[in-house]
Amino acid sequence: MQKPQDLVPVVPQSDLVPALEDRHIEILVQVCGEALKSNVDEVASNLVNEVDRDFVHMWPGEHYRLLAGFAARLNPQLAIEIGTWQGAAAAILSRTCKRVVTFDVVAIDGIPGSIPELLERYPNVSQVVANLLDDEIWRENSTVFSSADLVFVDGPKDGVFESVVVPRILGVMKPGSVMVLDDIRFAGMQDLWKNQISFPRIDLGSFGHFSGTGVVFR
Ligand SMILES: C[S@@+](CC[C@H](N)C(=O)[O-])C[C@H]1O[C@@H](n2cnc3c(N)ncnc32)[C@H](O)[C@@H]1O
Repeated sequence: MQKPQDLVPVVPQSDLVPALEDRHIEILVQVCGEALKSNVDEVASNLVNEVDRDFVHMWPGEHYRLLAGFAARLNPQLAIEIGTWQGAAAAILSRTCKRVVTFDVVAIDGIPGSIPELLERYPNVSQVVANLLDDEIWRENSTVFSSADLVFVDGPKDGVFESVVVPRILGVMKPGSVMVLDDIRFAGMQDLWKNQISFPRIDLGSFGHFSGTGVVFR
């Protein structure tokens, strides 16, 4: 039986409507240029385990340098992440984003192998420990999403959370902002990616995470 995190075939770009415009592709080309110039050594060196340091350097294949490219190209006043885990992506975003807010259901200190003292090392990063699937928590936090220039969604991919939370977030994001949506080649993400998003988008997985890196232009 298929599980939400099984890899499934890539959705053909021609099935995704509305289509991307040239101005979106121009941004993506610039993002890749910035990713190529990026140096993530400092963040990687702060991770505890060598295997995690290697993941941060792996590009293409993993998303860390691509995120560095988005942050460098967009220079966000506010970037939001869902799914802090060990803090590597938040740390990378923090270098060229004025402020980073990262949501997780587990506090950073409770994640094995996390960057020690992430919030002290990168003082423009703050963590919110909350589950946005909860209606009341969403209402309390929706305003911050309407101010974000970049939203990186990298949560549980359990077949439920993203289908509810991603449309909510896209509904309040401002025009011109960008969402990066991890793991869209997972079975539990495919219907969301193909049918539940009504903004121009592309799977940049071959230049990001092998399991699919969706980019949505709001
Ligand atoms: C794949 S990891 C995130 C990796 C991280 N963004 C990175 O790039 O290094 C997924 C994270 O989602 C978190 N998570 C699980 N359920 C969540 C929820 N409902 N809301 C927010 N985060 C959640 C997990 O605790 C875990 O830390």
